Amino acid sequence: MAKITAFIFDLDGVITDTAEYHYLAWKQLADEEHIAFTRQDNDQLRGVSRRESLNRMLKGHPIDETTAQAWMERKNNYYLQHLKSITPNDCLPGIKSFLADARAAGLKIAVGSASKNAYEVLTRLEIIDLFEAVGDGYVVKNSKPAPDLFVWVAGRLGVHTEEAVVFEDAEAGVEAALNGGFHVVGIGHADVTRAHLVLREGLAQITAQDILTQLQRAT
Ligand code: BG6
Ligand code: MG
Repeated sequence: MAKITAFIFDLDGVITDTAEYHYLAWKQLADEEHIAFTRQDNDQLRGVSRRESLNRMLKGHPIDETTAQAWMERKNNYYLQHLKSITPNDCLPGIKSFLADARAAGLKIAVGSASKNAYEVLTRLEIIDLFEAVGDGYVVKNSKPAPDLFVWVAGRLGVHTEEAVVFEDAEAGVEAALNGGFHVVGIGHADVTRAHLVLREGLAQITAQDILTQLQRAT
């Protein structure tokens, strides 16, 4: 196994839990447009781009391109209103000490998020300066499950994909990392079982060295 030199973190669901805000924003749009949309529907949107989220929310309901653009902008405006309430206390449990621990262990750390709001969220959490690279929803054309975003981040860090571990809470993100040849740690309760290591309770009770040891055993 190649020496691991970098950790790349998804943002929504790994560093902070913005899924509820995405849900509330899509729900507001869906209600206004009289489209049925439940929390279960929202689970299918985890990790996928804004455009693909809209497609899934519409469930085949046809709209033209101008309307699609307008609806995505509306949803994003609702989402931005919710983001205003994010503070540094909204990092998921243990994440700040895990990031500090990874850096102390000499690992490069970076973010790979499908969100076009990643800088806004990281700035509000007051952790943006910790990362050597941030890839967001603007940097590549093909979104997860294509590997392009994580490969772009690895390039910014100057590491090969097999030298990096991706932390993901979404099936599309796990697939993206596997497609890119990364090691993958699945976080939380969505379908992340194809990851090399699954941590249902997140990063609160584990050290960077534990991750490296467990991946060594698993791969
Ligand atoms: C991902 C979220 O991180 O970003 C998805 O898990 C979201 O739910 C996607 O749709 C795009 O986010 P944004 O902020 O660009 O609309
Ligand atoms: Mg996520």
